[in-house]
Amino acid sequence: MAISIPKGTHDIIANEARGYDLIEEVCANVATVYGFDPLRTPVFESTELFNRGVGESSDIVTKEMYTFLDKGKRSITLRPEGTAGIVRSVISNKLHAQADLPLKYYYTGPMFRYERPQLGRFRQFHQFGVESIGVNSIYEDIEVVFLGHEILRNLGFEKITLKINSLGDGPTRSNYKSALQSFFKDKVGHMCPDCKHRYETNPLRILDCKVPEDKLIAEGAPKITQFLSDKAKQDFATVLEKLDGFEIPYEIDDHLVRGLDYYSGLIFEFSYITSEGKDYGALGGGGHYDRLVKELDGPNLEGVGFAFGIERLHAVMSDEGLLNDKIVTDDVHIMSLGDLARGDAIDLGETLRSMGLRVILNYEDKSLKALFKRAERNGAKVSVIIGEDEVKNEILQVKNMATEEQTAVSYEEAVNYIADLFKQAHLDHHHDHDDCDCGHDHESHDCECEHDEKEAEICACGHSELVDGECECGHHHDHEEKECCGGNNKDKDHECCGGNHGHGDDKECCGGHGHKKE
Ligand code: HAM
Repeated sequence: MAISIPKGTHDIIANEARGYDLIEEVCANVATVYGFDPLRTPVFESTELFNRGVGESSDIVTKEMYTFLDKGKRSITLRPEGTAGIVRSVISNKLHAQADLPLKYYYTGPMFRYERPQLGRFRQFHQFGVESIGVNSIYEDIEVVFLGHEILRNLGFEKITLKINSLGDGPTRSNYKSALQSFFKDKVGHMCPDCKHRYETNPLRILDCKVPEDKLIAEGAPKITQFLSDKAKQDFATVLEKLDGFEIPYEIDDHLVRGLDYYSGLIFEFSYITSEGKDYGALGGGGHYDRLVKELDGPNLEGVGFAFGIERLHAVMSDEGLLNDKIVTDDVHIMSLGDLARGDAIDLGETLRSMGLRVILNYEDKSLKALFKRAERNGAKVSVIIGEDEVKNEILQVKNMATEEQTAVSYEEAVNYIADLFKQAHLDHHHDHDDCDCGHDHESHDCECEHDEKEAEICACGHSELVDGECECGHHHDHEEKECCGGNNKDKDHECCGGNHGHGDDKECCGGHGHKKE
């Protein structure tokens, strides 16, 4: 019997994987603009880290960890989240003593929780997260919320829901916990087993219960706002003021507690309901933590961070069509019929690929009908047919798949002809030429990165920069008076180097067909 994939996991294939790459790239680019550096920690850590870090009363630690003894009989856990590992790394590497505070790191990778799989919930999932550790200022917390919001905006999200709450400081939370225990004392007997357990270990978590009857009971519970210290109230007011100032909409949710034990002060969650009304759960969430570093035997430093779930970001973006123009389709299918044609087909393929086109070749004899079907399935913009007659006569059949026009073109002219098709018909190239390197989408948003996409634009295909002209290869590169040879042909008045194209005494080749000015 075939081996099936473990429950709650999924393979991320082809364009879906490209979507993940893109999301991670945009997240990293925006985090970089906010001063964060990457940090990669192990996928597994000693179990104690999460017991102490994430907290004994959290669902994660009580029910969801993938824990096992390794061959050396050490208790190991696959990381259920990233914050504890980052804090462990800061302490192990004494980063707080080596670098300026705050330490600002971002991370991305798989996380593991033994949860009941459902829409947007997996047992192996991916997070992009950030942690800023070492500066205890409400403005640092605000920056981190801004960063989360900015990432979503750069991914193209428009109707972002931001829920926020404050858990206050230590005394606030212990007073509030006592108040909750008094409130739930004569009610908890009628609540779910989890709530009974939460009543003993962390009554705050009762507010997070998803059982509808328990939710109803919890609605009457006292609010944390009644218990906040003056400082916590002032901090929360500052957050709201800044969010208002930057016109970031938010909802104050005094039942928001978050599922991890390390939070204090500001906590927040981002969510999104798709146009079709789908809710994949929180896209991301985070908050301030005042004791975590110390509880893991580090210095007395506070931190703030958040994590997004990449699966959920990807699901919403697919549903909302935000990834459509990132889907890679084929540029050219070269259909060779018979072995004689294969050799010429591969030569042409290599030349077109050196121009940055995505080229697919076939090496088995299939009917033209089957080959055209494959080209259509994969969105090819141009098909080229090379059969025995074509080889004999040194011609090719080139078909523009959009107009269905098929033309016989000589071998000599083929590369320029195909390049022309890409240029003249504005056939979509699989690369997105509108993206600025910063990862911000300048088309649909007012980007605040201050990059000028026109000047900074670099074609992802490896050809050189756009200034004001167009390259015949279908990409947009200025070649001044020099014409691009499009392939391995000669330049107007300079010799072609046969792949690496020098285009003039004063021009250096950039490795593709782009032509640097200097
Ligand atoms: P979290 O709320 O547990 O926070 O997870 C953050 C995000 O990861 C969630 O909003 C969700 O998008 C995604 N996620 C969580 N569990 C699953 C799952 N089973 N399947 C799919 N996606 C999931 C944390 O992990 C904190 N470490 C965030 C943080 C960083 N707080 C401070 N710094």
